[in-house]
Amino acid sequence: MSIFNELAPQYPMMPDSYRELSTEEMEQRVLAIKQKHGDALLIPGHHYQRDEVIQFADVTGDSLELARLAAQNTQARHIVFCGVHFMAETCDILTQEQQTVVLPDMRAGCSMADMANMTQTEVAWRLLTEQVGDTILPLTYVNSTAEIKAFVGRHGGATVTSSNARQVITWALKQKKRVLFLPDQHLGRNTAYQLGIPLEEMAVWDPYAQRLETDKDPQQIRIILWKGHCSVHEKFTTGQIAAIRQQDPEVRIIVHPECTYEVVMAADDAGSTKYIIDRINEAPPGSKWAVGTEMNLVRRLAAQHPEQQIVSLNPDLCPCLTMNRIDLPHLLWSLECIDRGEPTGIIRVPESIAVDAKDALKRMFEHV
Ligand code: 13P
Ligand code: SF4
Repeated sequence: MSIFNELAPQYPMMPDSYRELSTEEMEQRVLAIKQKHGDALLIPGHHYQRDEVIQFADVTGDSLELARLAAQNTQARHIVFCGVHFMAETCDILTQEQQTVVLPDMRAGCSMADMANMTQTEVAWRLLTEQVGDTILPLTYVNSTAEIKAFVGRHGGATVTSSNARQVITWALKQKKRVLFLPDQHLGRNTAYQLGIPLEEMAVWDPYAQRLETDKDPQQIRIILWKGHCSVHEKFTTGQIAAIRQQDPEVRIIVHPECTYEVVMAADDAGSTKYIIDRINEAPPGSKWAVGTEMNLVRRLAAQHPEQQIVSLNPDLCPCLTMNRIDLPHLLWSLECIDRGEPTGIIRVPESIAVDAKDALKRMFEHV
């Protein structure tokens, strides 16, 4: 069951009256609460958040940076996490008992994280280990539920982010002969290929058909890729790349590794959210880019760099709809609930899950 069905009805929804407020009034009220609470309140914002929200973030970052920050911060009593559900869960796992993590809209899930559930994962593990024995180390992209992180932690594996997948897969292949990579097949495939592992030594695990999509002997497979994807990044195509190249051959195409293998191969460069931001920040005036990642970030980079030409690789793409659920009214509502002493949208990972999930996160931090 998706977190939309599972969680939304159990939590109070923002009253409609917030929608009637002017932007100016909402901004003033957010600022007033931030000033009143000072360091006791922390607002982390993922790079894919809307401008109307990110302007109030105390810190912005990709998922690795925000996870690191959560592990370091001990001052904030309340952390209002402007990102998606799995990021807020990670934040809760890494923060102290007395700190409360709040997600301003509980419907801000991630369709990729929903593509691997525990039942499917337990079945996959049993069937795969029956075929290849105790030779698999599980890894999970942080874009996964806390339960999946806990599963991985229990089996000696680690989490990865798009910024450190290379290092973590390298480490994993020194521990065991093969890796099960959850839940994003594209990040797993693109990263393993960059590490020199041929596509013939990778196969996709289909959690619905409960089988490896390969004609080969499973013993030859080193990277088992879970059949999941990001519905935003999968929308970039090689056709869009060809069209841009035809229009202007000087445009450099840079994409996120959640894009398909074909798109990553056809692009000039590929890397995590932070990598994309760093390349553009370093580029000289007059540089031209077509960027294959989330739209809010591409628009923000274009606004921050008027001296460069920055467009989306797919100008018709919608932003990540779940990231976009966190808007100014929800941020204000969530802050006012905290201010009244009645925080809502609290993310609390049960201790039995958090302990093992933390092991998986710790292993990631140890090996990057
Ligand atoms: P990063 O790890 O690059 O922050 O990506 C998070 C995400 O959700 C990408 O779709
Ligand atoms: Fe999930 Fe994709 Fe949105 Fe990232 S961009 S939060 S992976 S749906």
